Amino acid sequence: MMRAARPIRIAPSILDADFGRLAEQIALVEAAGADLLHLDIMDGHFVPNLSLGVPVVAGIARHTKLPLEAHLMITDPAKYAPAFVEAGARGIIFHIEVAQQPRELVRQLRRLDVQVGVSLNPGTPAESLLEILPQVDQVLVMTVWPGFGGQRFLDDCLRKIEVLAEQLRDDQALEVDGGVNLDTAPRAVAAGADTLVAGSAIFAADDPATALRTLRDVAQSARRQAELRA
Ligand code: DX5
Ligand code: ZN
Repeated sequence: MMRAARPIRIAPSILDADFGRLAEQIALVEAAGADLLHLDIMDGHFVPNLSLGVPVVAGIARHTKLPLEAHLMITDPAKYAPAFVEAGARGIIFHIEVAQQPRELVRQLRRLDVQVGVSLNPGTPAESLLEILPQVDQVLVMTVWPGFGGQRFLDDCLRKIEVLAEQLRDDQALEVDGGVNLDTAPRAVAAGADTLVAGSAIFAADDPATALRTLRDVAQSARRQAELRA
């Protein structure tokens, strides 16, 4: 079941950061060894919430060397992706639920010369990705219904992670987003995830740097155990 081990990556989501001290908070996780920064973009249509937009992403890009990935929880990713790339995003993740012509959308995003990822909601089956799976750089499995940080991890999604882990190539990342914490990260990694998005588990902690390092430790030890079992 295990793909050739891709290194575990931790992607803090700033949704739960203190937006009044954003640069400082990002510097903290950068120094603590975050691998990339996960930016949740919401349009109030695809999800019932609004978050940050292009100027905020551009501002963040000026203050960090971490690669930025934009998780577009918006109904028209093709329209807005170029602006986020221009602002500094190195990865664009769209939702399969809004893609009317997924192959064409992936082709359009490819032209922007970024990592292309596709995400799916808890209610969306892995099969919905069949048509484009070979063409994307990563899959982002939502383990909460998107829209808000701090929700409970939905265990029902673990099976979907296992199914996708079997289908993806070694050069494709399998990322998990929503409710990732010290309890749930080991389960996600055992199911085959290699990249963990964590918002509240890091930024709502008293000490975000320690929270990030501890999360990485438990994820890496879950990976080692899974390898031993394989
Ligand atoms: C949910 C977002 C997630 C979320 C993660 O809509 O896509 O990235 O902010 O936050 P936690 O880790 O608190 O679930
Ligand atoms: Zn996200």
